[in-house]
Amino acid sequence: MPRVTVHRKAHFNAAHRLYRKDWSDDKNFEVFNKCSNQYFHGHNYELIVSLTGEISPETGYVYDLGVLRNLIKDEIEEAFDHKNLNIEVPEFKDLIPTAENISVVIYNKLRVHIPEDLDIKITLYETPRNFVSYSGE
Ligand code: NI
Repeated sequence: MPRVTVHRKAHFNAAHRLYRKDWSDDKNFEVFNKCSNQYFHGHNYELIVSLTGEISPETGYVYDLGVLRNLIKDEIEEAFDHKNLNIEVPEFKDLIPTAENISVVIYNKLRVHIPEDLDIKITLYETPRNFVSYSGE
């Protein structure tokens, strides 16, 4: 059967701060610049979840996008939307919430719910021009 990729877009707003506790304020500013601001700042994150697999001969689907919508809502939006990632999201207690690390956390949270024969790719826009992708490598 042909392998096809289906995509679902989602959105969340969240605040973060990029810094290391073991570095001085000066060192944090040198590396993370304005993103190290101690008062945090927010982003409008745009998320694309892409699933690649064979079309089911029975349903004609690769994966039911309604199911994927609910999965993203329950696992990602509920956990991240209108949250301070550093303070309120346990995965970032000891992990710097860069777009790179957020994409890996999203991948891991979804991977356990999606059949293993489907490949997952996470694309995460932190700004309209800055975005990252992660496929589980
Ligand atoms: Ni930022």
